[in-house]
Amino acid sequence: MADSRVLIFDTTLRDGEQSPGASMTLEEKIQIAEFLDAMGVDIIEAGFPIASNGDFESVSEVSRVVKNAVVCGLARAGAKDIDRAGEALRQAKRGRIHTFISTSPVHMKHKLQMEPEAVLDAVVRSVTMARNLVEDVEWSAEDATRTDRDFLCRCVEAAIKAGATTINIPDTVGYTMPQEYAEIIGMLRARVPNIDQAVLSTHCHNDLGLAVANSLAGVAAGARQVECTINGIGERAGNAALEEVVMALQVRQDIMPYQTGIQAAMIARASKLVSGITSFPVQFNKAIVGQNAFAHESGIHQDGMLKNNQTYEIMTPESVGITKSSLVMGKHSGRHAFREKLKELGYDLGENAMEDAFVRFKALADKKKHLFDDDLVALVDDEVSRGNEHIRVISLRVVAGSFGPQEATLELEVDGVVEKTTATGDGPVDATFNAIKALFPHEARLQLFKVHAVTEGTDAQAEVSVRLEENGKSVTGRGTDTDTLVASARAYVSALNRLLVKRQRTAPEALRAAT
Ligand code: KIV
Ligand code: ZN
Repeated sequence: MADSRVLIFDTTLRDGEQSPGASMTLEEKIQIAEFLDAMGVDIIEAGFPIASNGDFESVSEVSRVVKNAVVCGLARAGAKDIDRAGEALRQAKRGRIHTFISTSPVHMKHKLQMEPEAVLDAVVRSVTMARNLVEDVEWSAEDATRTDRDFLCRCVEAAIKAGATTINIPDTVGYTMPQEYAEIIGMLRARVPNIDQAVLSTHCHNDLGLAVANSLAGVAAGARQVECTINGIGERAGNAALEEVVMALQVRQDIMPYQTGIQAAMIARASKLVSGITSFPVQFNKAIVGQNAFAHESGIHQDGMLKNNQTYEIMTPESVGITKSSLVMGKHSGRHAFREKLKELGYDLGENAMEDAFVRFKALADKKKHLFDDDLVALVDDEVSRGNEHIRVISLRVVAGSFGPQEATLELEVDGVVEKTTATGDGPVDATFNAIKALFPHEARLQLFKVHAVTEGTDAQAEVSVRLEENGKSVTGRGTDTDTLVASARAYVSALNRLLVKRQRTAPEALRAAT
């Protein structure tokens, strides 16, 4: 491979999923993995197989469906973790075990309670074990940027000697700065005698808002793999954003002459897909994929743009797949046009899902005069997230207004049995949620309720996100409808369905991912 090629390692499904509330179902993870694969991601980190049965299943299913990318499973340094990762990757065309251990004084003393020499032994043992299962082994020095430099060099050299093919230098707590991170990568290249036998990798968190800058500094200093996530989601303030790293490299070829294999025109769809599935909104002014990233508000800027778009645009919206939201279809559009439009928007639904989506599209077209691309995206995302439904909203009637109490009459189907109740509440949403609780009693706590209009106008669809928390685990559900209260009921029920799946899939010995 050319020395200027930078591998893109996407960890949206592992580090990204560690963001509180960002948990995804198996079907959603597969949908994202297939998209990342088609987009040209080199390595997809699909999960942490020992953490739960759900994570094991995702790594194993993603391994089965991914065609081109390497599929990676995370493991701590112990034999159980590594065996489980190896097992989950069995169906992968190309599988990678990513094993890690902390190397900084603060982590070794307080988290691991291990002496440095014992950590060094564990590095050799874990990499050797992983290499006995797969050819492709990545080793990470957790909290590398706060690690003693001499010790880091010894660990890296030992890991490569034991068979590691990629060495990752995580800035686990988002503490480093570009010049310091570049200095660490440069130092490893200069001091570790066998460093040319492995690819050096960056993994930067965004606690100081420097994840992308640090990753790029790492590349300039010789790293050839960047670990990142779509929209920068991840632990705490998140990880380096894939779209920002890729576009920075593309736009500044003059001073960063490196290439990735990413099809940049798929970036906007990837961003929408991940934000839709996780219900994590993309901030309006987010670089590359924010709603305002290509908007020109001031008169002077608009004037400049009309004369020549290079006056205020360093890349075109089309280069990252942003097209003007077009008026798409109406109630007379047929199945064929609908299928073609969805294909254009990046959806490839099976026959049944396509038919269900088409029926909902017709119903929506009856209610809403103008249907835009975003309406279809919301409708189909809602359809896809309906996978494992134990509970379903059948009907809802709400009495609201300035004279309370507000009242909701709800019909819910729970495992095939339909029941009806009426509940009151402090406002129509509260009444609706109380009715759900009466028909399906549960202890989960409401953590977030968010309403967003999919398009403009008073007939816009409402997209509602609801996050519920039970025993420290949170799940997010979404619902869309032109009626905000129906969308709210659907979102709440969708979160409950996810909670049921989570209860089932989480093994009693489930471990929380380490970072
Ligand atoms: O941030 C971190 O250190 C990690 C490692 C597991 C690579 O996510
Ligand atoms: Zn991380």
